[in-house]
Formats: sequence, structure tokens, C-alpha cells
Amino acid sequence: MKRIILLISLLIPVCLAAKVETPDIVPAPLKLEMGKGSFNMKGVCINCDPNMDHQAVKAVRQLADRLTLVSGRLIEVACPIGLTRVVEKGNLKGLYFIQDASVAPEGYKISIGSKAAVVRASDFNGFFYSLQTLRQMLPAAIYGSTPAPSENWRVPCCEIEDAPRFGYRGILLDCCRHFFSVDEVKKVLDVMAMYKLNRLHWHLTEDQGWRIEIDKYPRLTEVGAFRNGTMIKREWGSNDGIRHGGYYTKEQIRDMVAYAGARGITIIPEVDMPGHMVAALASYPEYGCAGSGPYEVLTYWGVSKQVLNVGKEETMRFLEDVCAEVADLFPGEYFNIGGDECPRDEWKTDPDCQAKIKELGLVSDENASAEARLQNYVTARMQKFLATKGKKIIGWDEILEGELAPGATVMSWRGTKGGIKAASMGYDVIMSPNIYCYLDHCQSTDLDSEPYCITQKPERAVTLTKLYHYEPYEGMEPSSVHHVLGVQGNLWTEFIGTDDYLEYMLLPRLLALSEVQWCTPENKNYERFIKSLGSHELPILGKLGYNYRKPDELK
Ligand code: ACM
Repeated sequence: MKRIILLISLLIPVCLAAKVETPDIVPAPLKLEMGKGSFNMKGVCINCDPNMDHQAVKAVRQLADRLTLVSGRLIEVACPIGLTRVVEKGNLKGLYFIQDASVAPEGYKISIGSKAAVVRASDFNGFFYSLQTLRQMLPAAIYGSTPAPSENWRVPCCEIEDAPRFGYRGILLDCCRHFFSVDEVKKVLDVMAMYKLNRLHWHLTEDQGWRIEIDKYPRLTEVGAFRNGTMIKREWGSNDGIRHGGYYTKEQIRDMVAYAGARGITIIPEVDMPGHMVAALASYPEYGCAGSGPYEVLTYWGVSKQVLNVGKEETMRFLEDVCAEVADLFPGEYFNIGGDECPRDEWKTDPDCQAKIKELGLVSDENASAEARLQNYVTARMQKFLATKGKKIIGWDEILEGELAPGATVMSWRGTKGGIKAASMGYDVIMSPNIYCYLDHCQSTDLDSEPYCITQKPERAVTLTKLYHYEPYEGMEPSSVHHVLGVQGNLWTEFIGTDDYLEYMLLPRLLALSEVQWCTPENKNYERFIKSLGSHELPILGKLGYNYRKPDELK
């Protein structure tokens, strides 16, 4: 008997210690100090500051409703006048959300005691992210809608102070090489929100498909949104014979923008120009160069030599008209004008382009060709035009070739050198180097063990660990790192044709990316991250119906 009592007395502290184990939170918070004891969220009374953003109160109510459903005890949310004074006085009971201008943008503080918990933030995203963190501290049943009243609906007492390292935390989704439904794009937005990503760079126009309704140019979607089949793997000249396409109506786009906004995500549209425009040229061949064409929405991958005839004023007006309609749909401050992979061969022989080069006095020198400078003219003109719509431009790192007007933001994709150079020249940059951040690359160096993808050499694989260990300031002068707005992962879809495969390529690399984007280097820890994936994140993603790749470390 004595032995049993001894065993029990030895086990009790172990059980208590297990209860206050550091919760698995991805991305890891800036500061997390564990306390003693726990706070019961079951039936908790929630009070929101009446000064809080009404969208934030709505998000709190949504969590309260979900908690009511799964825990089986009603949770009410009130917004009483004079709440801040009550909180200052102390002696609290329940869960409080307080507007606090001193908290960093998108940051939040959570103070959890055994009787009361107080959350502070200064903006919608801060409150929204505090809710994601609270959810990660609760039993996984919070992510479902099945009642689980017997679960332990307590969260550990702790102090959390959190804020992102970077303000721009993005994913590019290519809905052109393959079209994805509104529901699937929303599913991507949902998982981005869980891990505190805040920008969806939506690639909407391409050689292989135009995906956005434009009232003034209906043929863009009547013709440009569909292609007559798709090449099979890398078999040039092959065609699967399956017509592929689709587009988003303006109504669907507005709905998507609102859906993203309610999750703290801004959607940045990309209209890629003046290359990557074959679907537009198939719809309106009059904007093509002399001797080019006939045009057909491409059924194969790669970089097309068929580009817009930017020497023609009509073409520039077409671009302005399209961008005006697109800009109207997306309320964010940025607009991506692409600018990558534009072969200038056709411009060398096109009379309109050559006349424009002459008119503008563009010359070739050791820095850039006259044709590269013609692309600078397109970039500068669109930058000026979009400024009249209240937008700043982002472009791929090719926009640096020749001259680039101040105020443009450069997205570094051909490795890191474009971003390093642009930042040293005083441009803001978003780091999206293919070697670390291209999510269409294979997830294993053992290429044959993975589904077919774009990667042909093992060293081009973007493994979970490679992405996780990416340091965006690497190679930069300390004096220019403040130009790094953030980091983006790019999910191109040449070889990704199904929702399941899209998710497989996204997950769990999106979670590794979230730590690159959110955490300070000191706060990253791959072992802790992998452990969180195994114990918490991946089971939850599975429960939510996401397909993901099981990391090698957990196999
Ligand atoms: C790109 O991958 N062409 C930006």
C-alpha cells in the first residue's frame, strides 16, 4: 500500500507537469512564458472592448459559437461600455479582448491566469491571430463541429507576446496553368489564415489561360479562358485531348476578396505583362506583333516568344483598360504587373515597336538593349497609370533590367540576387527565390519517390528543411535589409492539376514558410517545428480534409 501511495505521489507532479506543457503553436510566438495552472474555456464569459473593430468582434463570436458547439456549454459574447476601466481595476473573471494601440501591427498579447484571460491587440489581424493561437492551445476538436464535451477545454496559464517579423507573408497561387474552383481557393485561404499568412498573390493571366472576367473585353474569357488540351508531362507535341479552363466572374472575385479579408488576407492580383499574354492574344490578335500569330491559348509549358505589341497605343490602352477593371475589384495597395520572361525578339522586327523605340529615343548600351528599355517604358507607364487608381506596383525581378522608377517593389524569384540588388538600390523587395520558395519543386531529393513535378535535378528540390532554414536577409547589406517587406512561397501549377495534389505540394511546406515569415531567426527550431507537426498540426489538417505530405522525419 505504501508503495502505491509513493507511486501515486510521484506520478501526480508528472501529470500536472504534463498539463502545463508548452503548447504547440505554429508559427512559434515571439515570447511565450508558461505559468502554473490552467484556465477553463468551457462556458467562459467573453467580453469585447466596444472600441474593437466590428470584424474582430465577429471573429471572436465565431470562435465562441464553435466552442459552444464542441464543448457543449453556451458561451456568450458581450461588448459592455467602460470595459477597459473594469480591466484596469483587475479582479477579473472570464475572457477579455481589449483594444490597445501600444500593441505592434498584427501583433497580440495574451495573458492567461486561472480565473481570467486578457487578449490585447491594436488591429483586426492582431485579434484574428490571437484567436488562431487560442485555437491551437485547445483540443483538436475545436477545428471540427462534432460535440466533444468530455474533452479538457482548458488552456494553460501563460503570457504570450507575439508579432510578425515581416509584414508581407504571402503565397502565390497559379490558377492559370490549371484552374482551381472558388471552393479550393477558399480552402487555401483558410489554411493560410490558420498559420498567419496575410497575402495571396493571385496569378490570374497566362499563356495557358485567362482567368478573370473583364467587361470591356469579353473574349478574354470567352476565348482566352479555355485551351484545347494539355501536354502530357514533358512530352513536347503531346496533348491529353481534354479541353481545360474556367474563369472567375467579378461577383466571385468580390466574394473571394471579402472571404480573404475576413481572414486577415489581402489578395494581390497579377496581370502578367508584356509577356505571358498568349491567351489574351488568342482573344484579341490585333494586339500582337507583325508576323506573329496565329494565336492559340497554349497547350504546352515554357516561355512563349509571342508577346504584346507594346509599340501600339491601342495595346497600351488595352492594358490600361484591363488593369483599371482589375484594380477596381481588389482594394489592396499593391498590383502585380508581372514583367517576367518576356522575350523581346518580336519587338526587334515589329515596325510599331521600332517606331516607339525611336520616338522615345531608346538606345542599346552595355546596361540594357533598346528593347529592354521598351519594357521599362511599359513598366513605368503602367506604374503611373496604376498610381491614378491608388495602387503601387510589384513586378518580378526582370523589371530591374534597364531602368526602374522609384516606388516599384521587386519580387526576387531567380534566386536571391535580384532582391539583394534591388534592396541595395533602395527598392522594396519581396523575397521569393525559386531555390527555397518554389512550392512546385519536388519535396524530396529522391525525385522518383514523389509524384511527377517540375523538378528534374535532386539539388533543385525544395525540401521542408531547406525551406524552413531559408534566411531572407542572407547576402544582404545590413543597411538595406529594411527594404525586405517579406517572403512568399510560389505555387505554380504546370504539373499540378488536382485539388489533392495542390494541397500535397502546399502542405506542410506552408507551415515551414509561416515560420520563415513570422519568427525571428532565434525563435526558429526545426526539431520543435517537426514535433508540432507530428503531434498537432498534421492531425488537424487531416481532420480538416487537407491532403499533405508526411515529412520524412515523421515517417
Ligand atoms: C516566374 O517564376 N516566372 C516568376
